[in-house]
Amino acid sequence: MIEYVLMERKHLEGLVAVEEECFNSGFARATFQKEFENKIATYFVAVEDEKVLGYAGLWNICGAADIIDVAVLESHRRRGIAQNLISCLVEFCKKEKICEINLEVRVSNIPAIKLYEKMGFMQSGMRKNYYENREDAFLMQRKFEEENNEDNCY
Ligand SMILES: CC(C)(COP(=O)(O)OP(=O)(O)OC[C@H]1O[C@@H](n2cnc3c(N)ncnc32)[C@H](O)[C@@H]1OP(=O)(O)O)[C@@H](O)C(=O)NCCC(=O)NCCS
Repeated sequence: MIEYVLMERKHLEGLVAVEEECFNSGFARATFQKEFENKIATYFVAVEDEKVLGYAGLWNICGAADIIDVAVLESHRRRGIAQNLISCLVEFCKKEKICEINLEVRVSNIPAIKLYEKMGFMQSGMRKNYYENREDAFLMQRKFEEENNEDNCY
């Protein structure tokens, strides 16, 4: 059974393995080491038989969340893992009275765009030449005005 839990230091090796397979940034270990200390960061991890299959994380920036990354091992894709990880982030945001979630996604990343659309995100803008290879980014957003009490939002 797949469990969805908050990131802990014991997940480090698994997180690095997923990051390296999905993004190969070369900075995975250092990045997660920093994220363990980052007070505005919240990550959920999908774990099956102690193996990390995927993760999703956000930063809470003054009451608005930015999704930092969502990634799932290739061999475990299309099992609903990313969808469940994003649901964990959404539930966290609702509990924390966060008003909106924002993210950037490569315009060519159709799986991710479809995933975010399925999870209620809408395109809210575009950043030209956003990535290192000058690829454009779509900005996507999900707002919680109707789902949260607006008085609690910044
Ligand atoms: C994007 C990614 C996280 C999706 O993970 P996943 O666990 O396979 O996604 P899910 O199984 O939860 O899929 C949920 C929905 O997303 C959409 N989706 C996911 N993969 C898709 C694909 N390859 N093509 C089209 N739609 C896709 C579908 O709507 C899917 O629902 P369905 O299976 O009922 O059709 C995964 O492909 C990945 O890790 N990619 C590399 C890293 C990355 O690009 N991350 C996003 C950075 S912004």
